[in-house]
Amino acid sequence: MIKDKLNRKFEYLRISVTDKCNYRCIYCMPKDIFGSKYQFLRKSELLSYEEIIKVAKTLKPFGLKKIRLTGGEPLLRKNIERLINGLKKDALIEKVMITTNGSLLTKNKLIALKENGLDSITISLDSLSQRVGNIMNPINNSNFVSEAINDVIDIFGSVKINMVVMKEINDKEIIPMINRFIDKKIELRFIEYMDVGESNNWSLENVFTSKETKSIIGKYFNLKKLPDLIDSTSEKWSIDDHTLNVAFISSISKPFCSECNRGRLSANGNFYTCLFSGKPYNFSNYFRNEESSLSFDNYFKQVWSNRNDQYSQLRLITKPNKDKSNKVEMSHIGG
Ligand code: GTP
Ligand code: 5AD
Ligand code: SF4
Ligand code: SF4
Repeated sequence: MIKDKLNRKFEYLRISVTDKCNYRCIYCMPKDIFGSKYQFLRKSELLSYEEIIKVAKTLKPFGLKKIRLTGGEPLLRKNIERLINGLKKDALIEKVMITTNGSLLTKNKLIALKENGLDSITISLDSLSQRVGNIMNPINNSNFVSEAINDVIDIFGSVKINMVVMKEINDKEIIPMINRFIDKKIELRFIEYMDVGESNNWSLENVFTSKETKSIIGKYFNLKKLPDLIDSTSEKWSIDDHTLNVAFISSISKPFCSECNRGRLSANGNFYTCLFSGKPYNFSNYFRNEESSLSFDNYFKQVWSNRNDQYSQLRLITKPNKDKSNKVEMSHIGG
């Protein structure tokens, strides 16, 4: 086990398997920036599945227990179930999960993911209305995704849904989303819009805080707090006697850096010690060279031992200096 400068363990790796996405959500990949001229990573730059599995195997002895596959849209990578299989059966990772926009979740794909050992699925869905969807996620397929949610519950038992709430854009969708899913085995998570990357033109004015969301829900339903899990990004609540739970991810108003046990690997093999970091550590250089596999261990030890990031916590105290920042894009680091 290894600890960073703030005494935090390393237990959780988020792996972005591609920086491409078939959606263009305004808070992540606005279409005027991520258009036909945008330079995505070339195929040759991407880590292969074998390489990712090797990273997982090397990092496991340091305490790694959970891996979440992200993107861009992770299901755009062909046969991702092969990677999942390797992470579970070869690297012996306890929990392998995925966050996806759900647009490619056919029944056959779901069965293949389950058979190869995937533990759980989180789906991003910000609204049910076509009108709001067109503004927030200009290319989207929310009817298909609603169906896929039912299939995920059938095959995996439950599902988490991520809804990024933006002021005056989809805040009126909070209650319709709850009503649609109220009697399903779902955790519906309301996420505060975060200042990740440099492309989304983030402003505090567009943030709809968890407190505001909770107060709207409170007008219609009784919320009861559920116990906090260590290292979780969210606070969970049950609603009356319904099977739907709601959760709040409040990175802006109530940061959770003090428990942050997460590292992040981009699709081209850069490791980041924080979601808001502009500093990549080049992992592929180290583990691609067979003879230096020992030094990859040592390199990781050095990187994690020197980690002192707590961006969201510090943002509360000091205003981030916009001119100086060069934060990595959400689609590159996977959230
Ligand atoms: P669990 O594994 O269930 O805890 O999922 P998760 O909430 O970590 O992952 P998910 O991909 O569903 O992300 C939900 C939201 O939390 C997204 O907006 C992420 O960007 C955000 N998030 C995840 N990890 C961190 C983190 O370490 N710091 C911050 N600030 N936000 C995070
Ligand atoms: N703020 C908050 N959440 C975001 N996500 C993407 N961009 C942002 C942002 N700027 C969410 C996606 C996905 C998860 C990985 O991160 O909706 O569910
Ligand atoms: Fe794609 Fe997810 Fe980003 Fe939306 S939030 S553009 S679905 S990676
Ligand atoms: Fe971890 Fe950085 Fe998020 Fe804080 S802001 S919880 S240090 S990833």
